Amino acid sequence: MELAIIGAGWVGVTTAAAMADIGHTVVCADLNAERIEKLNLGEVPFFEPGLFELLQKSLASGRLKFTTSNEEAIKAGELVFCCVNTPTLPDGSTDLNAVTQVARAFAQDHRDGAVFVIKSTVPAGTAAAMRRVMTEISQRPFTIASNPEFLAESTAIRDTMIPSRIVIGADESDTLEKVKRVYEPIIANGARVFISDCATAEVVKTASNSFLATRISLINEIANYANQVGADPVGVALGMSLDPRIGAVRPGVGYGGGCFPKDVQALIGEGDRTGTPLTVLKAAHAANYRQRTRLYDRLSAALGGVAGKKVTIFGLAFKPKTDDVRDAPAITLIDQLLKDGAQVVAYDPQVRPTLVNDHHGLVMASSALEAAQDADAVALMCEWQEFIDLDLKTLQHVMKGRILVDGRYIWSRKTVESLGFIYVV
Ligand SMILES: NC(=O)c1ccc[n+]([C@@H]2O[C@H](COP(=O)([O-])OP(=O)(O)OC[C@H]3O[C@@H](n4cnc5c(N)ncnc54)[C@H](O)[C@@H]3O)[C@@H](O)[C@H]2O)c1
Repeated sequence: MELAIIGAGWVGVTTAAAMADIGHTVVCADLNAERIEKLNLGEVPFFEPGLFELLQKSLASGRLKFTTSNEEAIKAGELVFCCVNTPTLPDGSTDLNAVTQVARAFAQDHRDGAVFVIKSTVPAGTAAAMRRVMTEISQRPFTIASNPEFLAESTAIRDTMIPSRIVIGADESDTLEKVKRVYEPIIANGARVFISDCATAEVVKTASNSFLATRISLINEIANYANQVGADPVGVALGMSLDPRIGAVRPGVGYGGGCFPKDVQALIGEGDRTGTPLTVLKAAHAANYRQRTRLYDRLSAALGGVAGKKVTIFGLAFKPKTDDVRDAPAITLIDQLLKDGAQVVAYDPQVRPTLVNDHHGLVMASSALEAAQDADAVALMCEWQEFIDLDLKTLQHVMKGRILVDGRYIWSRKTVESLGFIYVV
């Protein structure tokens, strides 16, 4: 099939490369010319395991092309996938400017009978609103579908090729069939498909992220409590995980990234606007940010104040195997430490200094041990394997102080305390 993908971020590039790989012809557009130039040269503008190889393969097949012209892409697509960003505005509502721009461009240039597929995460009613926008402009028949994306950064390719489910919302059976046909090889491999109207598909997405975020906040508060009463927080989480109704849970400093915080905030805003306040979600969201403050306060207390102290941060990304630092807990901690007069040195295996150069005063090191040299405290904020494998005796040798903050519960209290560290969680 001939597909257009608008927006070349995590979702757009992964979808474009994957769709070309399963046999479709894909034109992917983005307004960011530097990004498009890189992509046409086979370079991925962010770190996502395996994506470089998949991109190379798809470009070599001749079925994938990148352009800065939305018009060119839209004219080339039987289906046009909207994968642009949907940030949250300060009032908690979703900024639909980019989606609306793409909808207008679609309405001007689409083929007869083309399908506008919204993959971006959007509030309920967006497909209906975009249909109204497009109907005013378009002179030709078109339809609209909601096909939210569930990929997680660090496992984006697997999540696209072997998804837990494909959700398709549409009002016409013909449109549903067309979107389904795009995923035919993936469905043939066993992927489950959930079909609904557009509004239901839209809510499935934001509600799924909100549910997952709430679980994280709950296990984090349980871990805080376990700590307080002398229980082992990781042991508690593992013991709970054995119940299949609960599944895997692991405590830490909380969620971050470009999706959970904004999707939770957006759903909270939608709940308030529609007179159906989501009180549990509000509490979970507040608990997420309290978790960051709590860790800072505990570090500060252990140091006797952070001013003039050297604090090393292990891991800047919001989770391992990505270089995404959007709303990462490490960044919140760094900003607070710098504000309060600490000297901060950080190391992350993938985050390049250019991604954090707006945090004035932050020094980036090129290895964990270099970063920890003469540190009064080391705070682990992202559980890269490299940190899990680090020899703690060597770490202790290069540090000046003894404080080890474990923002992801990767170390055992017993082990680190027996080595002479002060363990802070
Ligand atoms: N990143 C994830 O893990 C993930 C997972 C599932 C869903 N989503 C959702 O998918 C959407 C995209 O997320 P992302 O992480 O890929 O975003 P991103 O910020 O990485 O990329 C979005 C891209 O869209 C481009 N863009 C913006 N306006 C445009 C326009 N008018 N025309 C053409 N290009 C335009 C930007 O230049 C950017 O390159 C968001 O709604 C997000 O919530 C993201």
